[in-house]
Formats: sequence, structure tokens, C-alpha cells
Amino acid sequence: MSVLITGGAGFIGSHAAVEFLNAGYEIVIMDNFSNSKPVVLDRIKQITGKDFKFYRADLLDLASLDKIFDENPEIDSVIHFAGLKAVGESVSKPLEYYHNNVTGTLMLCDSMRRHGVKTIVFSSSATVYGAPDEVPIKESARVGNATNPYGETKVMIERILKDIYVSDKEWNVSVLRYFNPIGAHKSGLIGEDPNGIPNNLMPYITKVAGGKLPYLHVFGNDYNTHDGTGVRDYIHVVDLARAHLKALESIKERRGIDYFNIGTGTGYSVLDIVKAYKEATGVEIKYEIEGRRPGDIDACFADPTKAREILGWTAEYDITDMCRDSNNWQRNNPNGYGE
Ligand code: WQD
Repeated sequence: MSVLITGGAGFIGSHAAVEFLNAGYEIVIMDNFSNSKPVVLDRIKQITGKDFKFYRADLLDLASLDKIFDENPEIDSVIHFAGLKAVGESVSKPLEYYHNNVTGTLMLCDSMRRHGVKTIVFSSSATVYGAPDEVPIKESARVGNATNPYGETKVMIERILKDIYVSDKEWNVSVLRYFNPIGAHKSGLIGEDPNGIPNNLMPYITKVAGGKLPYLHVFGNDYNTHDGTGVRDYIHVVDLARAHLKALESIKERRGIDYFNIGTGTGYSVLDIVKAYKEATGVEIKYEIEGRRPGDIDACFADPTKAREILGWTAEYDITDMCRDSNNWQRNNPNGYGE
């Protein structure tokens, strides 16, 4: 049997591909390279010493999806990462985000159903909780008041997958709600390589560390947190990747549909991260305190109890590991994967 990984050349998808190959799975990767580069595929092979089939394909092209399942009848499950994921961009391009993420997932599920593939692990996000009523956040927390179109696509896709499951109980659905993925594989061969100026904190910090950007803009220090800067649950991307292995194993055994918060359960502020980065790498990150970024919330971190109890998964890497590995990736790849 084998696993189809959509978006498998992306930041999280490539780390998941490594973990699935290392765990002995046969995998097929599909990616349209809209936010990734072909060289990532070589890096995955270099890290694992293993080969896999790849299709340059788009979720919106039903014929290309059918071709993948037709040519690989041994695929029995899908890990679904492919999607646009920039919060700010989604506000200015809602049509593109709803079409690509929601329509794309509908096409994927249609092709899966027609090929008898009814097991999926879906890459969702803590963004579905919007501004949480309380932290730490449990899976039972209110979902649906996402503060941006990107988050809304995740809310909608979760609802679609639930309705598919209700209509046909042969489906097995595991929804993983990520908190803040950072870090990189210890080899420094794969990592986060956002297009343009990074929106997220850690890739911005690593570019400051690498001299590509002059200083970090800290978006607000008047939040209701221990030091006034925003608190988030940062999780090492390898820990996150491994959660997908556990989720697939669990849903195949337990069957049905389930939801899991994938975080460490510990919140760190922006200034905590700046301090941790210095301690982990010796690099001082210059910063300026500025105004709040629209849409940001004070604090967001997970209660990871359910993932521990049901999936047998907990995060193994700490914030020092995350800073060290992010820095290592950037130092080894100052221009990311290049042009
Ligand atoms: C973290 C903290 C900022 C940049 C987003 C998405 C979420 C997920 C992860 C996809 C906040 C502060 C940031 C900077 C700063 N992505 N910050 N200066 O907003 O928590 O989550 O990315 O699933 O869905 O919403 O992550 O890294 O952008 O911000 O001060 O240059 O760092 O204000 O407090 P966020 P982030």
C-alpha cells in the first residue's frame, strides 16, 4: 500500500515525506510548485536515500488527480497539505484562496471516492478557532470565527470532510489543527522558504540573523501577555510531521473522524523567541517595537492532551531545538532553495 502526499514539496509536506519514507511507507508526492521548488524532491531523496513517484499536478485539474490514482492503485490513503496558506494574502485574494483550497479539496475527495480511497489526514490550522475564548485550547473549543479567508477555507474544508464522513461511514478522516510550525530538519537540507518578505515570525528572524533584513519589527507590545508581545505555541516541523504518521496509523485502526490540536502546549512571546534564538545560536536579533498587526490576537496555545492520549504523540523538540534548526537551515541556504 502507499500514501499520496499532496503538497509534498512544501515546508511541512517535505518534512512529512521524509518521516513517512523513514518509517518504511511507499509514497507518491503531488505538487504544483506554486509555493515550492523541484529541488526539494532531490533533498528528500538525499536525506532518506529512498525514491518515490512524483506528479507535477494541480488539485483543480481533475484529470491529473484521476491519473495519479489510476496509475497508482496501491494508494490507500492521502495526507492532504496542498493549499494556499498566507493569511495576509488571503485577505486581498479571497477568490483565489476559496477556489484553490476549497474547490481543490472537493476535486481531491471526488477523485478519491471514485477510486475507492477513503482515508485522509487533513492539514488544518488553529486559525479555525479565531480569537479563542480561553487558552490552552482544547479540540472542543468553538470553531468557525476565523479572522481571515485562509482560516475560513480551513473551517469549510473541515465541514466538508465531516459531511462526507456522515454520508459514507467508510471514510476515515483525521483533522490536525496546527499551531505555529517552525524549525527544520537537522540536516539543514529542507526548511521554510517563503516567497518574498516573510509574513511569519521565524522565517523573518532567520533572515535578520542572516543579514538579509536589518531588524525584526515586533508587532505590538501592549497585548495581555507576560511581556506585552504576542504569545504563540511554536512546534518543531519534524514533531508536526511525525504527528501525521501517528494520525494515519490511528485513524486506520480506530476509523471514523477525529480532530487533534498539534502543539506543544507551551506559549512563547515574540521577545521570548528573540531571547531563545540568541541562547540557541549566539545571534543577537535586533528589533523595534511597532504597532499591532491587524487580525493578531494576544495568545494562542494548545492543550495537546488528546493527541497524547489518542495518537500517542507528544512534541519532543524544545524551543532551543527549533531556533537552532531554523538558523541552521538559513545558514546553509541563505537564498532558500534559490531560483
Ligand atoms: C507570530 C507572532 C505576530 C512576524 C500564522 C497563521 C496560522 C499559521 C501560522 C498557517 C505574532 C508576531 C510576526 C513579524 C512579529 N499558518 N510577529 N513580527 O500569525 O500566529 O499564525 O502563521 O496555518 O494559520 O495565522 O504566526 O508567525 O505570523 O506571528 O512581531 O515580522 O509573531 O504578531 O504575535 P501567526 P506569525
